[in-house]
Amino acid sequence: MTQLNKEQQAAAEFVNGIASVVAVPGSGKTLTMTHRIGNLVKKGVSPENILGLTFTRNAAQAMRDKLQTVLEGAASRVHLSTIHSFCMTLLKNEGTTFQILQGSEQMVFVRKIMRKMKINNLPTGMILREISLAKSNLITVDEFEALYEGDQAMLKVANVFRVYEEEKKKRLFMDFDDLLFETYQLLKNDSDVRQKYQESFRHVTVDEFRTPRPYRWKSCNCWSVNRSITTRYGYVRTIGNLSTPLQGLLWGTSSISRTCFRTRHSSF
Ligand SMILES: Nc1ncnc2c1ncn2[C@@H]1O[C@H](COP(=O)(O)OP(=O)(O)OP(=O)(O)O)[C@@H](O)[C@H]1O
Ligand SMILES: [Mg+2]
Repeated sequence: MTQLNKEQQAAAEFVNGIASVVAVPGSGKTLTMTHRIGNLVKKGVSPENILGLTFTRNAAQAMRDKLQTVLEGAASRVHLSTIHSFCMTLLKNEGTTFQILQGSEQMVFVRKIMRKMKINNLPTGMILREISLAKSNLITVDEFEALYEGDQAMLKVANVFRVYEEEKKKRLFMDFDDLLFETYQLLKNDSDVRQKYQESFRHVTVDEFRTPRPYRWKSCNCWSVNRSITTRYGYVRTIGNLSTPLQGLLWGTSSISRTCFRTRHSSF
């Protein structure tokens, strides 16, 4: 079994409250998260009460592989998932009816809207990126429009954004950004639903928390909205935010990986 260093150990032994692990790529964040899950189980937490969230499928798989070594048979009882897939299941379980709009279907959907609106001088990809960026920063269509007052090109984007949201709603479609936002709204506004998930997932760890987009913070925060829950149960997220110049840094090849490994108590 891998021997964690002092800083990793401190993060792995964190139990109650909220904490962030900030460390360079390849410094052992995912490994530490899995050891934390192992420690929780050793301390008597039921694996079913632990939720491990990641932002990509690869990261979820990396977590799963590492957890297998730490927990063996009990690993499959821990709920590991990408945040999008988790939100999709949660919304469906809570009775929301929708279909996912993504990839080429989403492109075609927007292109049709643009054709109807006779907008042909803006790239579809750019429009979708702008819409996604706005939504992930919790910017509404009205705010988007106000933000770009006087900018003709961006006001066209705002018009497409508005119709896109209306058409999507009519057809019961949700794009990837909606999954997180709708889950956030549901957990924020419905205390029964929130309590149910807080009770079932008493300990939450979020790996790969690279892009601090507001809805990500907020949707993750929903599990610890109730302060009494945060003091009783634990939440840890990892942030590898020193990535670009240090990409590819391997464990043990540099002292930076150790000195940059920090766990701090956090209130989001
Ligand atoms: N204390 C340690 N002892 C031995 N190997 C370690 C230790 N900590 C990390 N490693 C190894 O370093 C490599 C990188 O670890 P890990 O994937 O957990 O890092 P990470 O910070 O999550 O990386 P990324 O930023 O790419 O997500 C793995 O092979 C892991 O087993
Ligand atoms: Mg990792």
